[in-house]
Amino acid sequence: MGSFLRGVDFTYALSRALDAVGDARYDQRSRIGGGGLGRPMDNAEVQLRGYRRLRTDDVPPNDTPSYRSTALRHPTQPLVIVPQTLSEITGPAHGDASIGLLDHDLTRQHAGEPIGERIVIAGRGVDEDDRPVPDTLVEIWQANAAGRYAHASDTHDASLDANFTGAGRVLTDSDGRYRFVTVKPGAYPWNNHDNAWRPAHVHVSVFGQSFLTRLVTQMYFPGDPLLPLDPIFNSIPSERARRRLVSAFDLGLTEPLTALGYRFDIVLRGRDATPTGF
Ligand SMILES: [Fe+2]
Repeated sequence: MGSFLRGVDFTYALSRALDAVGDARYDQRSRIGGGGLGRPMDNAEVQLRGYRRLRTDDVPPNDTPSYRSTALRHPTQPLVIVPQTLSEITGPAHGDASIGLLDHDLTRQHAGEPIGERIVIAGRGVDEDDRPVPDTLVEIWQANAAGRYAHASDTHDASLDANFTGAGRVLTDSDGRYRFVTVKPGAYPWNNHDNAWRPAHVHVSVFGQSFLTRLVTQMYFPGDPLLPLDPIFNSIPSERARRRLVSAFDLGLTEPLTALGYRFDIVLRGRDATPTGF
């Protein structure tokens, strides 16, 4: 069970904390018997802790009229709040067996180097209590420097790059740190409204240590003039939360003569959580 629950305190979490207050937390003491997850836990008294809900104004509404396609894909019924149980608050965990040596370096996955401005994206994943989230899978996907995805459904009239797929993954280290090398993605047009352009962005997924902590979002770049015009970025009501999606230029992350560096720290759930951004 060690890898399955790696990083999760042996005070397992069980909570029905998803209430209307949002960040209220209910801790319970409970007895778990039977060792159903592989470790003998007969009569073990454990403290069970759930996760805080996100603040309402830090979460983009399911239906955002300015982001046109949400009209067709948002639920039409109120969401059903499912209690947190052991199943939701533990796992999945990913081992390092499926991570390739160059999965973190999107500039070295083909025979030649991709065209574009080489950059480093690095940061730290932490939980709502600022504790590192170790050994968790971080995935990114992005357009190339011309603003074109290597995907059949992308019909944007811009160049593909035979040396750039635009997908990477890595596990965080014991301190929650991750690092990618890639090229800065280009802005691209989309059909949301007349003359609509997406700001340069990198899609990010972080699993965290349970199904409840998985985050799928987008990372942006500081100073992008398209940010105030972007319906997806601005679907997050809170400016405070939107700012958490904008990476910071960090001279300390740069590679001299090679790449500029951007820091993108990620908080999974809680008051200061990094917001979802589809
Ligand atoms: Fe995108």
